[in-house]
Amino acid sequence: MFEIAPSILSADFTRLGEEIRAVEAGGAKILHVDVMDGRFVPNITIGLPVVKSIRRATDLTIDCHLMIIEPNRYAAEFVKAGANMVSVHVEADVHLQRTLTAIREAGGKSGAAINPGTPLSSLEEALPFADYIVLMSVNPGFGGQKYIHTSTDKLRRLRRMIDERELPIRIEIDGGIDASNIAKVIETGAEIIVSGTGVFGNGNGEQGVKQLIDAATVWT
Ligand code: DX5
Ligand code: ZN
Repeated sequence: MFEIAPSILSADFTRLGEEIRAVEAGGAKILHVDVMDGRFVPNITIGLPVVKSIRRATDLTIDCHLMIIEPNRYAAEFVKAGANMVSVHVEADVHLQRTLTAIREAGGKSGAAINPGTPLSSLEEALPFADYIVLMSVNPGFGGQKYIHTSTDKLRRLRRMIDERELPIRIEIDGGIDASNIAKVIETGAEIIVSGTGVFGNGNGEQGVKQLIDAATVWT
């Protein structure tokens, strides 16, 4: 089973509460929150106070994607702020196992995120400590980028890597997913489908989620 995780980066922040209610009405179960620091990625977005506010506004699962350097300093704080899932980048953390464990100890699901240019082998030692992997299909930093086509083969190899080890790890794919490619990534093994412009791009988050679910179920 797949789940759509709308990325609020492409939402209208002046009406964030309404946007969240709209994607919930459309059938979304997870809200993807992109946290950027202007260091790990060339953009700055939102932090802990906004996550706390979102927590008060919804019962949806909150998935915080930390695109920040030294994520070990903040990962558990995001769980305390209300996130149910927190992912950190393998490229940004020299003590990945420690950070993933801290997220779990704080009561969250732990995720390891990996950039398009980073080989899957850098995930290997972290797998037993991760509840999910975020496979980036664009270079992180901005919404609305084009899906990097080599991501499909990387996704296939990641699926195999997890299945061979018989680990209960979910694969989340993030970047450039819309109605044209959602069926393909689900067929290849992704279970959590992040989409920003694919959901909010037409100005109607409820419709955006429904269209993605329709496009996905053609194959499933
Ligand atoms: C990219 C972010 C993504 C982004 C996805 O840095 O991590 O979550 O918001 O947006 P789309 O779906 O527009 O590529
Ligand atoms: Zn993201």
